[in-house]
Order: sequence, then structure tokens, then C-alpha cells
Amino acid sequence: MSFSVIILAAGQGTRMGSNQPKVLQALAGKPLLHHVLESTALLSPQQTLVVCGFKGELLQQNCKDFVVDWVWQTEQRGTGHAVQCAYPDLHSTDRVLVLYGDVPLIQTATLQQLLYATPTDSVGILTAHFADPTGFGRIVRDSKGRITSIVEQRDATPQQCEIKEINSGIYVLPYQYLAAWLSELKNDNEQNEFYLTDIIAMAVANGVPVLSQTVKNLLEMSGVNSQMQLANLEREYQALQANDLMRRGVRVLDPARLDVRGKVQVGSDVMIDVNVVLEGNVTLGDRVYIGPNVVISNSEIASGSTIYANSVIDKAQIGAECQIGPFARVRPGTITRAHAKIGNFVEVKNAIIDEHSKINHLSYIGDAELGKRVNVGAGVITCNYDGAAKHTTIIEDDAFIGSNCELVAPVTVGKGATLAAGTTLIKDAPPNALTLTKKIISNIINWQRPVKQKEEI
Ligand code: UD1
Ligand code: MG
Repeated sequence: MSFSVIILAAGQGTRMGSNQPKVLQALAGKPLLHHVLESTALLSPQQTLVVCGFKGELLQQNCKDFVVDWVWQTEQRGTGHAVQCAYPDLHSTDRVLVLYGDVPLIQTATLQQLLYATPTDSVGILTAHFADPTGFGRIVRDSKGRITSIVEQRDATPQQCEIKEINSGIYVLPYQYLAAWLSELKNDNEQNEFYLTDIIAMAVANGVPVLSQTVKNLLEMSGVNSQMQLANLEREYQALQANDLMRRGVRVLDPARLDVRGKVQVGSDVMIDVNVVLEGNVTLGDRVYIGPNVVISNSEIASGSTIYANSVIDKAQIGAECQIGPFARVRPGTITRAHAKIGNFVEVKNAIIDEHSKINHLSYIGDAELGKRVNVGAGVITCNYDGAAKHTTIIEDDAFIGSNCELVAPVTVGKGATLAAGTTLIKDAPPNALTLTKKIISNIINWQRPVKQKEEI
């Protein structure tokens, strides 16, 4: 049995108070629409149509990694009108699964169940019971409990407003009736829009069975129409992420102060302190400790390593038993091997720091290869950029770089070499030797320090 997907994403989302399309607002670091596209892609539909309108080019640009057909709805005249716009591009199929781009947390398994439980010639809807159904369309049933229509809150009678069963906006519809139902939609409602929800009453009138599935996980059913709803959904989603990590044995010091915006793999006895953000694919090995206010994106931290407070790590591989931070910035392409140390106010980029090497204070190490047991003093800079191209600095095993040195790349410091403090290295330093920049020290005797004028009272 074939089916296609239509996702409605043309609206601006005026209630968000933003100038960006609503479906591009991020939940857990990802646009709302990406969540929906990922869930539906796993169903392998025959065709996926996404209806765009408000800043549609931006939407397409942001979703270029997904295989979808774009449909334009230049004027947003309602959810029914959006499906009318998509219909001509829909290839013939048995059924059409319609979703709204602002209902992000719908799970593939729930959609599979909807498709499985709805016979081909019937309409299926996902509904839920909300303690506070404000703003949602309500499911109207007759005395026998059969669905008769969906009514929007704005058009509902006070009695209908009491209904707690809401329309999720996710339906499976038989293709054979769709064209006729769409052509009959009217906009004689409070918003003067063509509501897709009106096809439910049409199906009932045509004797087409309308079946509902009640979804217990309310997060899956939550639509995002306002910043408050988005913030609430984010917190609820994050609570689930924290619970999941704790179930996997992670000590999360405060589940309310952890944000996971991606996927995290963890070993045993991992501890995560407060205000930590984990983005993309993050791997934390056994006994890793992540200090307060740390941000880690797309990185791997091997077993026994400690990331101290206020460090930022992006696209890096931290080896076992390393110590990073506090206040370290580890940028893409950094690889530290076992027992390496990167201390406070140190920035490292595209560099290999081999075993037991230390860069403890206030340094910039970029485009560099450091051997084993290298000691980098405070305030050391690899001058990797000549204004046009980047160059590499190589520091071999057991070298000692005194404080405040500048290593003007391309340059190599030989094995066991020592650079005296303040050296500006403009040619290679030979192994096992002391290299220094000669500086003249002059003393001005009887020199007078400037004295502050007496301040007037
Ligand atoms: C809609 C439903 C409501 C349901 C709720 C679930 C209708 C009439 N109402 O209300 O019953 O409880 O979703 O979250 O369907 N869109 C377009 N083109 C348009 C209008 C909207 O593509 O002309 C898209 C929007 O971008 C959005 C989605 O359709 O992604 C839903 O629109 P929205 O305005 O948020 O509808 P709700 O008021 O939430
Ligand atoms: Mg909505």
C-alpha cells in the first residue's frame, strides 16, 4: 500500500513574534521542521511534499539535506488551502499522511501505528487529551463517541471549548476522496481561512469512517505557536534527555541545568555538573567529569578526562586522562593524546598535542604538532598566519618553550630543545640546545616616574 507525505510549513507563525519562519525556530538545537522531516523520512514514503510560503527560499536552503519536493503557497490562506496548493504535485498514491511543521516531536513509531491501524479507505487522526487544550482544534464526537467534526477554538461554542480532546494536525487521508474534499472547502469561519480540519465533517457526511488514535505521550502532540510553548517544549524535551542519561548511569548534578542538542554516547561513571550544553555527536568515556558551564560540540572525550569549568570544546578529540580548562577554548581539529593538559585561557586549533604535553596558561596554539612531554609556558603564541596562508609549527618531544615566546610558522623546535622566555623564533631551533632572542637591557638611573597631579576637591 503506497502513501505520500505532505508537510505544511508555509506560515510565518505570527504568534511567535519573530521575523523568521516559525518552522525554522530551533528545538534542541534543530529547526522544528527538521524534526518532522527526520521522523517522516524513516517511513520511506513514496513522495514527500513540503508546502512553503513565508521566506520559502530560506526554508529550502535550510533543508537542502532532505530529499523532498517543494510546493509554494504564496499567500497563506489556511491549512486546507496549503494542501490544495500541494495536491497538483502529488503523484497518484493510496494514502496521504499530512503533518504540520510546527508539531516537531512526533515519533516515527506513532506514525507507523497510525498508518497500520487505519484501513485504506478510512481517515485516521492522531488526537490527545490535554488538561489545557487552549488554542487547539477540538475533536467533536456524537453520543456514541464517533467523531463528527473538528472545531477550531475561535469557532467553538462555549460547550465545545470544554472538550479536552485535541486535534494534533496529523492525519492519514485516502487519496481517492482528497481532490473532492479539498474543492469543497469554504472559508466561512472566524479567520476567513480554508481549514483542512473541515474535511473531517465531509468524510463523515460521505460515510467514510473517521478513526482516531489517542497518543499518550503529549510531547509528540504539542504544537508550537508561541515562544512560551516553544520554551516549555524545550524544557520538557530536555528533561527527557537528562532522564535518559541518568538511566544510563550518568550522574547529572541538576537535570534542569543540562541541555542536549544532539546525541550523546556515554561510558560508566560519567559526571556532568550544572549548566552544561552538549551539541551534535558527543562521546564521553568512562569516568569523564564535565565541569560547570561547559559547552561540548561534536567531540569525543576519552576515559578519565576532566573538563573544568567554563571550557568550550568543538570538533575535537580529547584523549584519556587529559585535563582541559578551566576557561579553555578547544577548537576544531584539536587532538590531545593521553595525559595532555590544556589550561586556563588557552586556545588550541587544528593541533595535535601528544601524550603528557602541557599548555597550562594563556597561549594560542594553532596549526601545530606537539610531541610527547612538551612543556609550553605562559603566553606562547604560534604565529600561524602570515596574512595569506596558514603555516605549521612543529614542536618535537621533550621540548621546553619558555613563557611569552612567539613561534613564527613554518618553524620546527627540535627534540629536547629549550626556548628561553620571550624568544621570537623565526628559524628552526636545533634539538637539545638553548635558543634565545638576544635582547639588550638598559637601565636609566635617576629616572622619575610621572606623578599624578593633585586632584581638585
Ligand atoms: C492547527 C489546526 C488545529 C490543531 C493544531 C495542532 C487547522 C485549521 N487547525 O491549528 O486544529 O489543533 O494545528 O497543532 O488546521 N500553514 C501553512 N499554510 C497556511 C496556514 C498554516 O502551511 O496557510 C502551516 C503552518 O506553517 C504550520 C501549520 O500549517 O506549520 C499549522 O498552522 P497553524 O497556524 O500553526 O495552525 P494552528 O492554529 O496551530
Ligand atoms: Mg500550530
